[in-house]
Amino acid sequence: MTLFLAIETSCDETAAAVFTDEPRILSSVIASQTDLHARFGGVVPEVAARAHLQRLLPVIDEALQQAGVRLEEIGGIAVHNTPGLIGALLVGVSAAKMLALALDVPLLAVNHIEGHIYAARLAVGRDIFPCVGLVVSGGHTVLFHCRDALHFAMLGGTLDDAAGEAFDKVASLLGLGFPGGPAVEREAAQGDPDAVALPRAFLHDERLDFSFSGLKTAVLYALAGQNQPRPAPPPPGKQRADLAASFQKAVVEVLVAKARQALRRTGLHRLAVGGGVAANRSFRAALEAMTRDEGAELVIPPLPLCTDNAAMAAIAVEKWRRRDWAALDLDAVPTWTPTATT
Ligand code: KG4
Ligand code: ZN
Repeated sequence: MTLFLAIETSCDETAAAVFTDEPRILSSVIASQTDLHARFGGVVPEVAARAHLQRLLPVIDEALQQAGVRLEEIGGIAVHNTPGLIGALLVGVSAAKMLALALDVPLLAVNHIEGHIYAARLAVGRDIFPCVGLVVSGGHTVLFHCRDALHFAMLGGTLDDAAGEAFDKVASLLGLGFPGGPAVEREAAQGDPDAVALPRAFLHDERLDFSFSGLKTAVLYALAGQNQPRPAPPPPGKQRADLAASFQKAVVEVLVAKARQALRRTGLHRLAVGGGVAANRSFRAALEAMTRDEGAELVIPPLPLCTDNAAMAAIAVEKWRRRDWAALDLDAVPTWTPTATT
């Protein structure tokens, strides 16, 4: 059995995990920086990078300790090297290179977005490919045709804001704070999802693309009227809850409709979903209903595996088996544009 240590520092979670080549997760430790960024209303890249520097080694120690594994027993180092904030990614990539060099073990570079799909495979503990993959995170909203663990072809994606980004921006408009997704979800639970008519971009379009920036603007207009300066956030009450609920319903409806189209288009009968927005309960319930209706299987990780973590880097095991190892001059790459031929 080979043991792996994985590192995730792409945004505002400092995370490490230990897993076997099965892969079986032995530990997954996540130090969230939410407290540090909350007062700025969003992630501040320099603050994130500095916090990763301070927290990464203790987080790695904790992951090893929880797994009951000594560093010398580790046979491979995995790291998310793309996409993400450059300063943040660099901390994890540098540490991973240093550890791979010191231990003289393979270095494995993992794509964070593909890792979000792989989290679904980890959750069920068996092969899930081929499937349609839907990643809905703070930076990406992408539909993939996943042929196997390492071959994903993009079917469609957002043309502007990611769904998680829209949640965060609407939370800010409504004065619900940071991080926005869970705050909007809590507020939406008090509101009427049919109270405010909001747009659903591309709902009846053939393309499997998304657009959420118009929806965010529609929430602004519903609050302030057109051509007005940005208003002060509404007080707690019916208007705020109704807007949150109507916004959430619009996002969920579009995401689920496009996932249904992707299943039909590809003829596949399995949908794997990942990314922070997949933690949203109303989204999960709508996905369950849709896949049941389509006679398809839904594979969706439990909440801690939806948001950023290092265990999802276990896709590295597939690369390790194929001897697809990274060189020690591995770069941190902030942007990644999936293609139809990935
Ligand atoms: O995957 P993730 O942890 O980080 C990125 O790779 O971006 O996703 C973070 C995003 C944020 O935009 C956050 O607001 C959203 O996921 N999110 C949610 C929920 N929990 C996190 N959105 C809606 N409902 C939630 N419960
Ligand atoms: Zn992520």
